[in-house]
Amino acid sequence: MQLENCYWLTLKHIPRRLMRKPVPLSSVCMRFDIVTIFPGFFTSFFENGILRRALAEGLVTVDVHDLRAFTHDRHRTVDDRPFGGGEGMVLKPAPLAEALASLGIAPKAERLCQGTTSVVPQELQKEGGASAPEGMLAGDPAPSPRDRVILLSAQGRPFTQAMARELAALDRVVLLCGRYEGVDERINEIYCDMELSIGDYVLSGGELAAAVVVDAVMRLLPGALGNEASSEFESFGVADAEIDTDVVGVPRSQYGAGGLLDYPHYTRPAEFAGLRVPETLLNGDHHGIRLWRREQQLRKTLANRPDLLEHAALSKEDRKLLDAIRLETEKQGPGTRD
Ligand code: ADE
Repeated sequence: MQLENCYWLTLKHIPRRLMRKPVPLSSVCMRFDIVTIFPGFFTSFFENGILRRALAEGLVTVDVHDLRAFTHDRHRTVDDRPFGGGEGMVLKPAPLAEALASLGIAPKAERLCQGTTSVVPQELQKEGGASAPEGMLAGDPAPSPRDRVILLSAQGRPFTQAMARELAALDRVVLLCGRYEGVDERINEIYCDMELSIGDYVLSGGELAAAVVVDAVMRLLPGALGNEASSEFESFGVADAEIDTDVVGVPRSQYGAGGLLDYPHYTRPAEFAGLRVPETLLNGDHHGIRLWRREQQLRKTLANRPDLLEHAALSKEDRKLLDAIRLETEKQGPGTRD
């Protein structure tokens, strides 16, 4: 996405010097829009660490939209009782549809037409209606198919690192935070490209889930981590081959994660609470370190996420090692770990 299509960071409470920083023309800027009834939830979240840096450097913009701004009654009502009875309240479709229209988001059927038939609706220019998004006029081509509208809900498909990688390749992701018992299903049907869940538990709303998605995606954007290799080598990373040297020829003491969990990490002091850092990590033998780390990855994955082993990229040596670890665990009996 080029500069002219980029929006500025509009989160309140982000220090002024981090705001309105222009994105260099050559860089690519990804845009997140979050629609929520709790816009304040996100303010501190984006003020720290990698997210703050990615925002400050203009790799990404995040706009948080208060759903209540798209209501028209005195009480700014966003929810109502479910048809058919039952517990709880459901987010009404109209404020969500209006919020999406204000962002230039057309129904998904139109968006899939590569932007050729999809236009910013004329209604957006009507008095009292939501206005066309900044920089867009009624009749302009709607956003490209490199946009996604995602509903966060406990009923969604599980969010994975692979999905985070797919989203990181897009221009724009719009996240709808569900609340109460859910969102009127017609919004899902008309606008949402997918429904995502961050895990098999029920949260009180989609805000935490949206924050998780933004974090996981943003850190994959080129330049976000500083060290480009970092995200490749952590748990679920894409790299699966041994890399012997880095760009300056220094041996790497890492293996690609190849679908396994990451190995344990240690830092100074070498001894803490009577526990010493594994000797292998202290002696500078990079080959030994790589072997130790790979073994630890296998041990941790076997102990914590054995399901991942089914699809992990395993060499013959890995499989042999795994068999040995399994045998060792069996000998130690139940209740032992690692
Ligand atoms: N809303 C409530 N529970 C959720 C979950 N597990 N993932 C995403 N959104 C949610």
